[in-house]
Amino acid sequence: MGYLLETNGLCKHYHRAGSTVEVLRGVDFRLEPGGTAAIVGRSGSGKSTLLNILGGLDLPSAGRVLVDGAPLETARRREREHWRARGVGFVFQFHFLLPDFTALENLLVPVGGLGPVGPADRRRALTLLEAMGLGDRAGHLPGELSGGEQQRVAVARAFMNRPRVVLADEPFGNLDREIGERLGDLLFTLHRQEDVALVLVTHDPALAARAQACWRLEQGVLVADAQEVAPT
Ligand SMILES: Nc1ncnc2c1ncn2[C@@H]1O[C@H](COP(=O)(O)OP(=O)(O)OP(=O)(O)O)[C@@H](O)[C@H]1O
Ligand SMILES: [Mg+2]
Repeated sequence: MGYLLETNGLCKHYHRAGSTVEVLRGVDFRLEPGGTAAIVGRSGSGKSTLLNILGGLDLPSAGRVLVDGAPLETARRREREHWRARGVGFVFQFHFLLPDFTALENLLVPVGGLGPVGPADRRRALTLLEAMGLGDRAGHLPGELSGGEQQRVAVARAFMNRPRVVLADEPFGNLDREIGERLGDLLFTLHRQEDVALVLVTHDPALAARAQACWRLEQGVLVADAQEVAPT
């Protein structure tokens, strides 16, 4: 089976105040269609940088990102944008919900970016909110929801456009452990129901252990994190 996402020798450096910071120094990553991977590593090791490159939000300094075996850097701009808008759903550590839009409307925003919003989109948004246990909160503004509920809206939003992969960067890092675990359950349930691949950056070993593969980003390269590979 081919890989949905693959990187070969991915490097990223930043020039800062006359010096160069090498963040990624040859990352080789693979993810099968519908697969799950966790990425752990200390703060500043480059996890968010890697996730942003995988999602087409940032470009590598060297090396390649392949989507379905085709290199993203030689793809036309439209194809890259297509990958970012259609192929990927993002969940960030901070939810970035639009404060003046209800939970339901927040889910419809990414749809509106691609075309007119129809009744089927509304039904799907509601179904996703229900899957996240928020069916009765669809009409609430983010400010009327708890932190955990807001993050659940953000997770539902990431799945809205039927992406091929959801990239989640410390999705529950701000929540207490128990709530984080419950939301982890919901996230993995949606991944299975929707048959969407999942890449999860997390500091939580219990959450990382749920993924089929767990990688540690260390000194700019990915190494298999043997202790945390989940039994399958
Ligand atoms: N735009 C930028 N310009 C310069 N340096 C940057 C930039 N973005 C990130 N860095 C640096 O790259 C390194 C990796 O950052 P990154 O955000 O990927 O780490 P991380 O593993 O996600 O950390 P955390 O767990 O704290 O979120 C850090 O040293 C950071 O300071
Ligand atoms: Mg980060």
